[in-house]
This record gives sequence, C-alpha cells and structure tokens, in this order.
Amino acid sequence: MNPHNKSASPMTALTRRLGSSGQPAIAFGADYNPEQWPEETWAEDVRLMREAGVNLVSVGIFSWARIEPREGTYVFDWLDRVIDLLHAHGIKVDLANATASPPPWFSHTYPQSLPVREDGVKISYGSRQAFAASSPEYRRAAAALTEQIANRYASHPAVVMWHIHNEYGCHNQPDYSDGAAAGFRGWLHRRYGNLEALNAAWGTAFWSQRYDSWDEIIPPRTSGTWVNPTQQLDFARYSSDELLECYMAEAAIIRRQSTHPLTTNFMGFNMGLHQPVDYWRWSQHMDIVSNDHYLRAEDSRSFQDLAMAADLTRGWAAGKPWLLMEHSTSAVNWQPRNIAKAPGEMLRNTLQHIARGADGTLFFQWRASKAGAEKFHSGMLPHTGTDTKIWREVCELGRTLQALGEVTGSVVGGPDGAVEVAILHDTDARWASELDSHPSVDASSLHETRRWHDAFYRRGITTDFCQSTDDLSQYKLVIAPMLYLLTDEGVRNLHRYVESGGSLVVTYFSGIADENDHIRLGSYPGAFSGLLGVHIEEFFPLPEAQSIELSRFGAGSIWTELGRPTVAEVLSTVAGGPVQGSPAVTRNTYGDGRSYYVSTSLQVEGMDELLQVLCADAGVSPMLADPAPGVEVVRRCKDEQTWTFFINHNDEDVRIPAAGHELLTSQDLQGTLHLKAGSVAVVRLPAAASEL
Ligand code: GLA
Repeated sequence: MNPHNKSASPMTALTRRLGSSGQPAIAFGADYNPEQWPEETWAEDVRLMREAGVNLVSVGIFSWARIEPREGTYVFDWLDRVIDLLHAHGIKVDLANATASPPPWFSHTYPQSLPVREDGVKISYGSRQAFAASSPEYRRAAAALTEQIANRYASHPAVVMWHIHNEYGCHNQPDYSDGAAAGFRGWLHRRYGNLEALNAAWGTAFWSQRYDSWDEIIPPRTSGTWVNPTQQLDFARYSSDELLECYMAEAAIIRRQSTHPLTTNFMGFNMGLHQPVDYWRWSQHMDIVSNDHYLRAEDSRSFQDLAMAADLTRGWAAGKPWLLMEHSTSAVNWQPRNIAKAPGEMLRNTLQHIARGADGTLFFQWRASKAGAEKFHSGMLPHTGTDTKIWREVCELGRTLQALGEVTGSVVGGPDGAVEVAILHDTDARWASELDSHPSVDASSLHETRRWHDAFYRRGITTDFCQSTDDLSQYKLVIAPMLYLLTDEGVRNLHRYVESGGSLVVTYFSGIADENDHIRLGSYPGAFSGLLGVHIEEFFPLPEAQSIELSRFGAGSIWTELGRPTVAEVLSTVAGGPVQGSPAVTRNTYGDGRSYYVSTSLQVEGMDELLQVLCADAGVSPMLADPAPGVEVVRRCKDEQTWTFFINHNDEDVRIPAAGHELLTSQDLQGTLHLKAGSVAVVRLPAAASEL
C-alpha cells in the first residue's frame, strides 16, 4: 500500500460534499430505516438528525419488500418523500440498491434460489439474505431492482454515494446447493483447465479421491470425515468470487447511470468469526472501502480489537481514508450478554476509528427498532427518547466531529511520517490455517495476529496490514504471524524484502504450505528455512493451557518445535520438556536485512521484551518517546501538518508532554496535555515541529 500517494480519494471527495463553505466534514450518521416507522415520525427524525449534526444516512438497505411488494411492481412514492425530506434538511444519502434481503414473494416464487447448508438443509426465508449467490433468479431480480433504483435516484441531489447490498456473505455463505456445485465446477475449470491439473492440485491420489469427470465434483459437503483440504480452500475462494460477481453485476448497472462512489460494507475481523470473502480482492472494486465494527463487549481489551480492525480496513483501503459504515452507540442484540457502553466509550471508539484513518463514522442504526429481531440493539435515538445518555453522547459526538473536519484526507503516519511496521494477513493463509486436521486446534492465525498487534499497540506503535505480495519497502519491520500458506510469489517477495535491508519476523506454522495447501518439503518452516537459518524437523504442539519456560522471553504456549539453527543466532531456547534446547527465538542476517523466527506463542511479558529487541534492531520508535500506559496515541498527517490523537482508556487523568493546538477544546497547549479519565484529545502541529 502506498499511504503517501497524495491523489484525492473518493472518500475525500465525499467529505468535501458533506461539508459547507468549502470546508470538508467527517461523515456522520447511520443506517436510516424509515419504512419501520409511520410517516409522521419522519419529520421528527430529520429534525433530530440536524440537532445531532448528522450529514449522511444509508437508506433502503432492507427496503426491497416495500419498494417491490410483488414481482415487477415498484413503489417509489414513499422513498421519494424520504429522500426529498432528507434533502430539504441538508442531509445526504448513501443510497442502497436494496438487494440484501429478498422479500417472501421472491423466495416463495423461486424456492430454488434458497441457499443450502453443508449438511444439505435448505435455508428458509424468514430472516434475511436468504438467497444463493449462484441463483440466476436472484441475480435477475437483484439486477432489475438495482436498475429501477439507480434510474430513479441517480440524479437526485441528496444522493452522494451508493451502498451495494449489505455485508455480503454474512448469513448465506458458503452455499452448498446444486447451483453452487455447477458454479464451482465452472470456476475450477477456469482455474485448472483440465482434470489432471485439478487432481494434482487437490492431491486426489490420497484416499482414492481421483476425479474422472467434471460432473463428479461437488462442493465440500458434509462427509464421513475430513473433506479434501484443497477442495475446501478452493470452495472458499470460489464462494468469495461468486458473491463478488453479484456485487460487480449490481455495481455495473449503477455505474452506467451514476458517477457517485460505490461501496459495500465489509466485516473485517468480524468478532473472530470466519471471514466469508477475500476483502483484499474485493477492495480493489470499491470506490470507498467501508467496514462494520462491533466490540466484543465482554472482552476487556475490545478497544485493542477495534484498533486492529481499523488498521486492517486501512490496509484494504491502500492507506487512503475509509468509512466506518456501522458501529453501535451502545449495546447490540446478538452477543450472549449485550453489555451497554459505559459513558464516554462510544466517543473513544469513534475517535479510535478516525485516528486510524476513517473519514466518517456511521451507526447501525438511526432509530432503535420497535419490532423485529434487532429491537434490543441500540441506535442513535433510543426507545427512551432524547433525555438519555445515548442521545446526549450522540449530540456531543456530532459536535466533536465537526471540530475535526480538517483531519479529513490525511493519512495515518508514524513518528517520522510513514508507518514503520506492517503485519501480514493473507486471506488464503487465514482460510487454509482454519481448516481441520491440523497439528493443534489452539494454533489460530487470527489469535496470533491479535497477539502481535496487541504487543505493538501496548508499545504505542502503529501498524499497517499488508499482504505477502505487497511492496513492503517502506517498512522497517514486517511481521508474519502464522502465515501458514504462501504463494511462490509471496515467498520471493519476502526474500527480496529482507535481502534489500528489511527485517522480517516469522512465527511458528508459517510458510508451511504452497497455494494448493501442499506441504513445502525438506525442512520446516518450508518457505523460510533458508531465510531464517533454521532447520525444524518436527512440531511439538503443547497440551491445552500448558506453557513451557524459555531461556529468555518468558514462556511459550500452544506450540514448540524440535529443531536447530543452521546459521541463525539463537536468542532463546526451550528450557524444558521433550524439545529442550531447541530454538524458541532466533535472529539471522540475510542479504542486507535480518530475519527472526519465533517458534512458539509468546505470552504478554515475553512478547513485550522481544519487541524491545526487534524495535531496537530495526530502529522503530513508538509515537511518544515515553508512552503513557493506557493512552492510545495515533497520528495522521497531511501536507505540512500532523494531528495526534490521544485516547485515554484509563479511569484516571493523565498528563502528557505535548504542544500544539488541541481541536476539541480549541486551546493552545503550553507543553502539557491534561487528559481526563476516559477522554480524548486531538492536537494539531505543523509537520516541522513533530516532537510533542
Ligand atoms: C450488521 C448489519 C446490520 C445490523 C447490525 C447489528 O452489521 O449490517 O444490518 O444487523 O449488524 O449489529
């Protein structure tokens, strides 16, 4: 990614349209679902939106049944009135093409369009997103609806962007229907060309799985035991592409009628759940990358997960500003215990996203629903009205964001401008690492990634996310946490990066498989053994919840290995158990750069100690020379200026040395920032004066 590419992005152009008197504004608003309410409510809605400072709402996401109550009959008068009303109050519209939830008439008329689960159970309608991506009936109906909506509203002055569908693959993917089987065969044919190549890639010599005709190939449906892993991996790739085709078809219809930017909302690091589509691939087709983020409310470090999700979203956006399409003002309805947000938490959450590159933050949803499955989900306007904590905080947030308009269009930077550290997160590697029948169920690419991101977070160092094939030359330090599968191109790129002076940290269970999920033979970690200067011969995963002492960097858990250095310097060894003496952490010189291997999962203290070594070696510095614990510090830069965000997650006030102009209180700091417990500050400095 290239965060220094200065050309204005569609997100930046949007913020200019949302502002007034030539000043850009951070996008602020929500999903607006007026069809859930009597029309008399709408006037109050727009009045209160104005009061809160809302400038953008997403309309029509779940309106298909209202717009097209029966096949081919389109009813737009109500939507005309909604959009006109918003326009009259100066509120812009992110207009959905409404294809996310086909109405009952559609599923009833075309039952063959319903998706099928792995075990053969057909998914019924009655909730949402009940369609198979491969269904020609769905695609036809979605295209017709999109055409109608685009045609009617493309030139409406309130409409400034398009919201295609909603959270692709959230409830209906993967689909194992016969339609998906046919689609999968076509996709495989295009990928492999002939059955011989497919048999080789899938390793079908194993368990007598050889395919003799394309018709024999099916999705990886429930079988007696583990289904062929490459078949599973290809099916994940196919399923992502099948949905991408739906997006592309709908996008093409809109693009014929409108030049406004298009997006669809992603679900990055979605609560640790399986990721249904390859967002790296998808983001290339978005004008604006947008993400939905919800806290895992019972996790005391949920704000660190938020930071990680925001950093990943910025990666998908290639470093350019992005849009937080949804988060919640307080509790959601879908976790086991839906803990409400503490006073001030929503403001901190929002500013974390902005600090990490969002130029807009919207909520799900404007008015908390009265009926339906999400009636206990918070909104900007709660059931209990405006004399409430939520409403007061929403209005306070609106005022806060108004003070931050000048930040739009800037990019996230490190102490000297550019971010210095990148974490690699390839979708294929994650998908393949999550397949069954691996050495340990405790080895999780997501969790290992989180441990590394958390460690940099604790040290006050901002990290970007990249793919293994990206140009990494701007980074002083690159981490490959459990990058299990790698293409040959990725392997070459990482070797080149180190050869030309970069520092690469590789953790256990990385570089093990090629793009077909076949083991890279000879020595573990296959792709990296030579680069790292180690020879690992056998994995020794640890029993559940057991850890093992290391000679340095504390203890390791989840994983150990039997091996030895070939040329690497050993920084730490396993201090006991069956692999006593095997390397735990190594350092190697390769070309002009350095490579490190970490063969176990380090715990917090050990990780912090190792990070000190890594950062000292690579010359990576935290944002502040003396970071205050519990205070998140992130910087955005544009032209000659920087904006440093301080987010105090502590229950106590802190004093931090800082100079510059604080935007939220509009004060010039005289050397000290007094940050109240739980509060935020944004300090502007000219670039020349980058030391705070
Ligand atoms: C998702 C969906 C929304 C809503 C929220 C609830 O993000 O896009 O429609 O269901 O979850 O948290």
